[in-house]
Amino acid sequence: MEVIIQPDAAAAGLLAARMVAAVIKDKPHAVIGFPTGSTPIPFYARLVRMHREDGLDFSRITTFNLDEFVALAHDHPASYHAYMEKHLFGHVNVARDRIHIPDGTAADIPSYCRQYEDDIRTAGGIDIQILGIGPDGHIGFNEPTSSLGSRTRIKTLTLQTRRDNAAEFGGEDKVPFHVLTMGIGTILDSRMILLLAFGAKKAEIVARAVEGPITALVPASALQLHPRTVLLLDEPAAARLTKADYYRYVYEHKPDWQNY
Ligand code: F6R
Repeated sequence: MEVIIQPDAAAAGLLAARMVAAVIKDKPHAVIGFPTGSTPIPFYARLVRMHREDGLDFSRITTFNLDEFVALAHDHPASYHAYMEKHLFGHVNVARDRIHIPDGTAADIPSYCRQYEDDIRTAGGIDIQILGIGPDGHIGFNEPTSSLGSRTRIKTLTLQTRRDNAAEFGGEDKVPFHVLTMGIGTILDSRMILLLAFGAKKAEIVARAVEGPITALVPASALQLHPRTVLLLDEPAAARLTKADYYRYVYEHKPDWQNY
């Protein structure tokens, strides 16, 4: 895992956007996996700016979102369909027929989830998957004890994750119990993974994911198995890493050709 520590979320968001822009420039028909949540908001703002000011072209990319709530209307303000429209898709020239967001309203959920996996494969696999991390170590909505080989499926949110999402829904009791999420196995199949984590409340779980044992109790620890995972952190999120100085030293001495 490559750990990059930036002074703040804005700087990390800019670097993440530069990395994704480089993937799109190198491969205009790239397949990109997107997350939602509060963490990627500065990253999406940068991508939108790169589209407006530098002409970053999204017209040939294909997108797959990580997750969505079950039985929530796509136009519900807390849905991830609405989130993506608000933060990215409504502002860039992405082709509507190449946007994929899990459909939590699907009538036959198991067969819909198999189709989602097939669609990723048919698109050629995910070139870069962007992730956030939950305070319990979830990636996508793969809560602790999720199989490290899991594929897209229905999951039940923990009480804590429902609490963490209460504000968007106007109360904990309104947060759905169920979600559709790419599995950890699905995520690990991506060619490159970029995980963003900001703020002191992520410090403990980031340290467990990066420097602790690989365990289903910390789903993000499975990323240690992936050959090309980059973690982009702000200073507070990096505060509990025992090898933070080493990660800084590695980043400062990267060969020029490896720089983002
Ligand atoms: C959302 C997702 C989740 C979030 C995680 C962190 O699509 O996959 O894993 O990344 O819950 O959420 P924030 O960024 O709000 O702290």
